Amino acid sequence: MKKVITYGTFDLLHYGHVRLLKRAKELGDYLIVGLSTDEFNEFKKHKEAYNSYDERKYILEAIKYVDEVIPEKDWDQKVHDIQKYGVDTFVMGDDWKGQFDFLKPYCNVIYLPRTPGISTTKIKKDLK
Ligand code: CTP
Repeated sequence: MKKVITYGTFDLLHYGHVRLLKRAKELGDYLIVGLSTDEFNEFKKHKEAYNSYDERKYILEAIKYVDEVIPEKDWDQKVHDIQKYGVDTFVMGDDWKGQFDFLKPYCNVIYLPRTPGISTTKIKKDLK
């Protein structure tokens, strides 16, 4: 079974997120999402999610492309996760292009084109 992993906050889940998850799942058989915890968002990524970790996890688990959600607690856990879960492919949107090439000794690293015109930031701004 080919395992794929991706990471993110996935707050106010939107069309761009679902497209990313669909394409990630198509790269293998089992998709793991490393979901940023509230503490990681606040203290490391310096962004505040509207939905709590438990709410974002609940929503992601309802998406048919997602097989498992694990907590993303810090920047440095990726090699550990890849080895622990036997991950074949690491996927991120291409806004992160090049930033995870250091994982190439451990698995395939793929950057998928971001869906234009939508982001959590944009939704928050538009609804203000
Ligand atoms: N993503 C995407 N297309 C979009 C928005 C996000 O493919 N239009 C991807 C990102 O590249 C990332 C994943 O979805 O791999 C999770 O991104 P996240 O940062 O949680 O979503 P954003 O909408 O970009 O959130 P923000 O505006 O807070 O940065």
